[in-house]
Amino acid sequence: MTQKYYIETYGCQMNVYDSELVASLLKQSGFVETGQIHEADAIFLNTCSIREKAEETVHNRLSNFQHLKRKNPGLIIGVLGCMAQHLKDNLLESKPYVDVILGPDSYRKLPEFIRNRNTGLDHLADTRLSKFEVYEDMFPTRNQGINAWISIMRGCDKFCTFCIVPFTRGRERSRTIESIVSETRQAVDEGFLEITLLGQNVNSFRDPGGSDFPDLLEAVASVPGVRRIRYTSPHPCDIGDKLLKVMQNHENICNHIHLPLQAGSDRILKRMNRTYTQYEFLDLVSKIRVYLPDCSLTTDIIVGFPGETEDEFLETLKVVRAVRFNSAFMFKYSPRPGTKAVEFSDQVPEVVKQGRLEQLIRLQKSMTLLANQKQVGKTLKVIVEKESKKSPDQWSGRTDGNTWVIFNKSGENIRDMIDVKITDARGISLFGVSLLTEVTA
Ligand code: SAH
Ligand code: SF4
Ligand code: F3S
Repeated sequence: MTQKYYIETYGCQMNVYDSELVASLLKQSGFVETGQIHEADAIFLNTCSIREKAEETVHNRLSNFQHLKRKNPGLIIGVLGCMAQHLKDNLLESKPYVDVILGPDSYRKLPEFIRNRNTGLDHLADTRLSKFEVYEDMFPTRNQGINAWISIMRGCDKFCTFCIVPFTRGRERSRTIESIVSETRQAVDEGFLEITLLGQNVNSFRDPGGSDFPDLLEAVASVPGVRRIRYTSPHPCDIGDKLLKVMQNHENICNHIHLPLQAGSDRILKRMNRTYTQYEFLDLVSKIRVYLPDCSLTTDIIVGFPGETEDEFLETLKVVRAVRFNSAFMFKYSPRPGTKAVEFSDQVPEVVKQGRLEQLIRLQKSMTLLANQKQVGKTLKVIVEKESKKSPDQWSGRTDGNTWVIFNKSGENIRDMIDVKITDARGISLFGVSLLTEVTA
């Protein structure tokens, strides 16, 4: 009988992409995917260590699997990804029913483990990080949809003092432009309309032949059939004129930059090792808006980093007001063992962090609304992605700036790129009227 695997993915899009690579490896080993955990012969959790809560969720989930293993001793339970890397010893001790622990650079070991499983090798733990592994020759197995993720580089060398990623994912390394372009062509052939290039520091990309991220973006934008290109996450220090010019010159590169701010105060930015000041960040925002006046800007912000005073937190709010980000991911600082910032003695109390987070979320909500209200009256290109959750008579689609638009159905199909006249902005969404003119690429 064909064996079935079930996989759950936590964390960032890099993990989503990696789960698709793992799916390809499992397929080669004769497995098919199931969405029903109870009928699976192998269960994998692709995990995240970015904040304490992400790790807790996975620990709880794994504890639930203990009884499945008791019922079916042949069941394979695997922990993949950043937690595997970060917590190998802890997992081996506390969860002895876990059979496989593989870090982000060790997935090629999986087929061999499956082959040898019935010949005595019933545990595998490999979390060594590689300086070279980019899975260049492997193609992911994607679920159908509008957007295809393509990982272009792995690892991070920036060592922001709060962040676990350089430890879980290892050193920066890039794929070749040729293999990325060929994966883009394949994704277009499979019917994907949108390509999102991924990397922890996507714009630190360096092709082994010397080409940089703007060169790559240009090459991907020139692949016939690519309707939209996005990329995430860039580091502000690597956004230059060349990149902005390429974005300006290609209509299919979305007018959207995710620009992680993290904090507004210069002293905190320095302590975070972010390598820019508030002034430099605001200057970069102005430059982006000269090249791309309608560019949507989104961000990541941490509150309550060790030593952050009330005044320093107010600096963050000041930048949020000045930039008017279209949206933001906002987090309370979470101490990660092994990083530099956990060693700082002036940790901020939980209640203070919580209060600052709530204040920031309130402000950002009003900024999102202001940014969205500016769109009212405009006609925007929208890709129809799914039925609206609110009503079966309405569609949801995204603009080039990555904002959801809800509008009444009037003969469109999912995947159409159409013009929508924006009539209202509420909450985090836009509302509009379809002009039903299919825009051809
Ligand atoms: N490489 C990306 C971000 C990766 S992690 C970048 O440089 O922007 C995604 C976000 O998680 C970060 O931008 C940061 O805001 C948040 N984050 C990372 N470590 C964190 C920590 N220890 N506590 C709280 N948030 C954290
Ligand atoms: Fe983490 Fe900083 Fe690297 Fe982003 S750039 S992954 S925040 S260390
Ligand atoms: Fe989490 Fe690892 Fe991504 S720590 S955010 S899954 S790189």
